[in-house]
Amino acid sequence: MKKNFQETLYCLILLCMLVHLSAQKEAAALINWKNSLNSASIPSWTLSNTRNSPCKWTGINCNEVGSIVGINLSNSSLHGTLDRFDFSAFPNLTSLNLSSNTLVGNIPSGIGKATKLIRLDLSRNNFTNSIPREIGNLSNLLDLQLSNNFLNGPIPLTIQKLSKLTKLNLKENQLNGTLPPEIGDMESLEELDLSINKLQGTMPSSITRFKNISLIYLAFNNFSGSIPEDFSPSSLRNFCFGYNNFSGKLPQGICKGGNLIYFDANDNKLVGPIPESLRNCTRLRRVRLEKNILDGDITNVFGTYPSLEYIDLGDNKLSGVLSTNWGRCKELSNFRISANLISGNVPPELVKLPSLQNLDLSANNLTGKIPVELFSSSSILLRLNLSNNKLSGQVSVQIGNLARLQHLDLSANNLSGPIPKELGSCQALKSLKLSMNKLSGKIPQELGNLVALQSLLDLSQNTFTGEITPQLGKLTKLEVLNLSHNHISGKLSSTLNGLISLQFVDLSYNNLHGPVPNNMFWQASTVALAGNAGLCGEKTQGLSPCKGDTSSKIPKKIERWKLIVAIVIPLSVSVILLTFTGIFIFQRYSPVHPHGKDKDLGGKNSFFVWNYRKRIDFEDLITATENFSDKYCIGKGGQGSVYKAILPTGDVFAVKHFHLSEEMEVPEYQIKNFLSEIHALSEIRHRNIVKIYGYGYLEGSMFFIYEYVERGSLQKLLQDAEEATLLNWGMRLKIIRGLAQALSYLHHDCTPTIVHRDISANNILMDTEFEPKVSDFGMARLLREGESNWTATVGTYGYIAPELAFTMKVTEKCDVYSFGIVALEVLMGRHPHELLLHLQSEVSDVQLEDVLDKRLAPPTSPIVQDLVLAASLAMKCINENPTYRPTMHQVSMNCEQRQFNLSLYFPADYIA
Ligand SMILES: *[C@@H]1O[C@H](CO)[C@@H](O)[C@H](O)[C@H]1NC(C)=O
Ligand SMILES: *[C@@H]1O[C@H](CO)[C@@H](O)[C@H](O)[C@H]1NC(C)=O
Ligand SMILES: *[C@@H]1O[C@H](CO)[C@@H](O)[C@H](O)[C@H]1NC(C)=O
Ligand SMILES: *[C@@H]1O[C@H](CO)[C@@H](O)[C@H](O)[C@H]1NC(C)=O
Ligand SMILES: *[C@@H]1O[C@H](CO)[C@@H](O)[C@H](O)[C@H]1NC(C)=O
Ligand SMILES: *[C@@H]1O[C@H](CO)[C@@H](O)[C@H](O)[C@H]1NC(C)=O
Ligand SMILES: *[C@@H]1O[C@H](CO)[C@@H](O)[C@H](O)[C@H]1NC(C)=O
Ligand SMILES: *[C@@H]1O[C@H](CO)[C@@H](O)[C@H](O)[C@H]1NC(C)=O
Repeated sequence: MKKNFQETLYCLILLCMLVHLSAQKEAAALINWKNSLNSASIPSWTLSNTRNSPCKWTGINCNEVGSIVGINLSNSSLHGTLDRFDFSAFPNLTSLNLSSNTLVGNIPSGIGKATKLIRLDLSRNNFTNSIPREIGNLSNLLDLQLSNNFLNGPIPLTIQKLSKLTKLNLKENQLNGTLPPEIGDMESLEELDLSINKLQGTMPSSITRFKNISLIYLAFNNFSGSIPEDFSPSSLRNFCFGYNNFSGKLPQGICKGGNLIYFDANDNKLVGPIPESLRNCTRLRRVRLEKNILDGDITNVFGTYPSLEYIDLGDNKLSGVLSTNWGRCKELSNFRISANLISGNVPPELVKLPSLQNLDLSANNLTGKIPVELFSSSSILLRLNLSNNKLSGQVSVQIGNLARLQHLDLSANNLSGPIPKELGSCQALKSLKLSMNKLSGKIPQELGNLVALQSLLDLSQNTFTGEITPQLGKLTKLEVLNLSHNHISGKLSSTLNGLISLQFVDLSYNNLHGPVPNNMFWQASTVALAGNAGLCGEKTQGLSPCKGDTSSKIPKKIERWKLIVAIVIPLSVSVILLTFTGIFIFQRYSPVHPHGKDKDLGGKNSFFVWNYRKRIDFEDLITATENFSDKYCIGKGGQGSVYKAILPTGDVFAVKHFHLSEEMEVPEYQIKNFLSEIHALSEIRHRNIVKIYGYGYLEGSMFFIYEYVERGSLQKLLQDAEEATLLNWGMRLKIIRGLAQALSYLHHDCTPTIVHRDISANNILMDTEFEPKVSDFGMARLLREGESNWTATVGTYGYIAPELAFTMKVTEKCDVYSFGIVALEVLMGRHPHELLLHLQSEVSDVQLEDVLDKRLAPPTSPIVQDLVLAASLAMKCINENPTYRPTMHQVSMNCEQRQFNLSLYFPADYIA
C-alpha cells in the first residue's frame, strides 16, 4: 500500500517533470518567435520567472496538462514574420489566430506540421507569396481564414484534401490560376469566399458535390465558362459571382431549396432565361442580374417576395410586361430594369410600394400614362427615371408631393402639356431632366424654388415659349443648364448672372435676341448660343455685331486668360494701379430683385458676386477708402494691398485689391477652377476662417471683400513687444488650437478638400478676442499651375515644406508643415529659424524652454503639460518626411483631448 503510494507519487512527479519540460519547450519556442517580432508586442511573454508557465501568458490556452492548445493574438499589433515560429513545437495546438496584425513574408511550409490544427486564422495581415502546398497536411482543419493578405500564385491543389473543412476564406488576395478540379472533395464545405482575387478558368463540375454549401462568393475575379447546369444545392443562401466573365445559362434549380437570400450575378455574359426556381424563392432579399445578356419574357417569371429589398435586372434583353406581383413586395426599395425590351404600362401597384426609393424603368418600350399613384404624398422616392420610353400624357400636378425626390428624369418620352408649377415643391431635387418631350407653355417661375438643383436642369428639345424667367437666377448651385431647342424668346438679361455655379449653358436654337451681356459670367461659363438669329455680340462667338455698339466687345479668350492669370501674380510693381478714376458701374447680383436698368454698358468686363447678408455698393467701398488711398491701407503683401473700408451703414470690411498684369496665359479650365474655388471659399463659415463677403473684377483689377479682423496679423502682434505680452500662454494655446481646427476643417470637412498652400503668421489675422482667423487661401493655386519657377513664389519663405524643393506635389501635408512652423512661432514669439538649423545639424535634444517666448513669465503647471503637447505636436508637423506628419484632424483632436503625456524632452525620433 505504502509502496504503491510511493510509486504513484513518483510517477506523478515524473509526469509533472515531463510535462513541465514539454511546457518549457513550448514556452521557449514562443519566446524564440516573440524575439523576432517588433519589440513592444506581447510584454507578458517572458521567461524571467521559470515557473511562470506559458499558460498564463496573453493569448495562450492550455489543456489540462499544461500543453498549449490555442494561440490567439488577434489584433495585437504584431509586426514581423512567421519564419521563426516553430510549428512542430506545439503538438497539441488546435487553434492559431494571428488575424489583424501586420505580419509579413511567407506563410511558412512548416505550418504543415501543426497537424492537430482545427482553426487557422491568418487573415488581415501582409503575408505575401503563395499559399504553401503543405497546408493540405492539416487534415483536421475546419476553418481556414487567409483573407485580406497579399498572397499570390494559385490555390494549391492539395487544399482539396481538407475534407473536413467547413469554412474557407481566401478573399482579397492576389491569387491567380484556376480552381483545383476536385475542389468538390471538400464535401463538408459550408462557406467558400474567393472574391476579389485574380482567379480564372471555369467552375469545376465537382462543385455539385458541395452538399452543405450555404455561402459562395466568387465576385471580382476572371472566372469564365458556365456554372454547371445541375448546380442546385438546397442549402444555398448566398450566391454571389458578379463581376466575372461567366457565360452560358444560369442554373435553373439555383433556388431549389428555397433558401436563397442574396443572388448576385451581375456584370457577366450570361444568356438565356431567368431561372424558373426563382419564382417560388420567397426568401430573396437582394437580386442583381444587371449587365448580362439574359432574355425571355418575364411577365410570369417572378413571384412575390415579401423580403425583397433590391432588384436590378437592367441592361439585359428581357421582354414582356411588368407584373402586378411586384406590388406585393412590400420591402422593395430599389427596382431597376432599365435598358431592356419591356413593354406595356407602368403598373400602378408597382409605383405605390411604400418603401420604394429608387425606381428606374428607363430605356424600355413602356407606353401609356405615368400613373398618378407614383406621386403619393407618403412617397419616399429619391430617384425616378422613366426616360427613353413612350410614355404620354401630361405631368400630373401631384408631382409636387415628392418632397424627397433628388433625381427626376422623364426625358425622351411623348409627354405633353405644361410643366406643372407644383414641380417647384420638389425642393430636394438635385437634377431635373425633362428634355426631348412635347412639353409646352412657359417655364414656370416656381422652378426657381428648386434651390438644391445642382448637377443639371435640362428642358431642351421641347416647345417651351416665353422668356427665361428671372426666378431661375435663384439657382445658385446649378452647374449645367440646357434650354436649347425650344421657342424661348426675349433678351438675355443679367438675371442669369445669379447662377454663379454654372459651368455649361446651352441656349442654342431658341428665339433669343439682343446683345449678349458683356461680363465675366458669360465668359467664365461655356455658353452655346447658336441658332438664335436675334442675338448679337462678338464675332468669335459666331454672332453678328450689335448695331450702333462698337464698344461692347467680349475679349478674346486669350485676353481673358491673361486677366485671370494676372489675379494671382504677386504685385512686384508698386501699387500705382488704381487707374480707374472714371466710371464705377457694376453688374450687381441681387438674388431677389434683379436689376431693371442695365448698368453694364459703361464698365468693361466688370462683375461682382456678393455673399453678404445685404448687397454692398462697390461705389461705397471706393468712397470709404477715398479711392483706395494709402491712408486706409492696412497691409501690403506679395499678392496685393488690403484696405479698411467703413461704410456709411457702419459695416466694416477689409478690401483686398490685386492689380493684374498681362503676361501669362493659363488654360480656361484653370480659370473656372479658380472661380469655383473662390466661390466655394466664399461659402465657408468657420470661426477660425476669415469670411469672404464678395469678390469681383473691374478694369483689370480683382477685388476680394473680407470680414474686417480688428487686430491685424499674428505676425504683427508677435513682433510688437507690448502686444506680445498680452498673449499669455493660455491665449497662445488657444491660437494653436483654433488654427488646427480651421485647417482640419479645410482638409477634412470640405468637399473638395481645400489646401491653403500659404499658411504663415502673416496670413493669420487676430480678432479682439485673440481668436485666430486664417485668411488668403487659394490664391497661390494658379500661380503654381501657370508658372514653371513656382516654388519661389508659392507659399511664404520660411514656412514652405521642404519636399516642395524637389516635388511639384502640393498636398495637405504642406499645410501641416506650415502649421507646425506657425505653432512654434506662436510659442517662441518669433520665427523658429535657428531652431530648425539646430534640428538639422545635430541629434536634437530640444528642451521645452528652448521653444518658449522669453518675454513671458515661465509657465506653471498645469499649463506646462499643454505647452509640451503643443510643442511636440508642432515638432511632429515639421517632420521632413510628409508621411510622418500627422493629419490636421489628428492634431486638432489631440489639442482637444490633451491625451499626450510626454516628457519635457523631445525624443530625437521626432526628426526623421
Ligand atoms: C498533448 O496533450 C496530451 C494530453 O491531452 C498530453 O498527454 C501530451 O503530453 C501533450 N503533448 C505534449 C508534447 O505536451
Ligand atoms: C482573441 O484575442 C482578441 C484580441 O486579444 C480578443 O478580442 C478575442 O476575444 C480573443 N478571442 C478568443 C476566442 O479568445
Ligand atoms: C483592434 O484593437 C483596437 C484597439 O487596440 C480596436 O480599436 C479595434 O476595434 C480592434 N479591431 C478588431 C478587428 O478587433
Ligand atoms: C480570430 O480572432 C478574431 C478576433 O477575436 C475573431 O473575430 C475571429 O473569428 C477569430 N478567428 C477564428 C478562426 O476563430
Ligand atoms: C501592410 O499593408 C498595408 C496595406 O497595403 C500597408 O499600408 C502597410 O504599410 C503594410 N504594413 C507593413 C508592415 O508592411
Ligand atoms: C500568377 O501570378 C504570379 C506572380 O504574381 C505569376 O508569376 C504567374 O505567371 C501568374 N500565373 C497566372 C496563371 O497568371
Ligand atoms: C411554386 O409553388 C407552387 C405551389 O406552392 C407550385 O405549384 C409550383 O409548381 C412551384 N413552381 C416552381 C417553379 O417550383
Ligand atoms: C415597342 O412597342 C410597339 C408597340 O407598342 C411595337 O410596335 C414595337 O415593336 C416595340 N419595340 C420594341 C423594340 O420592342
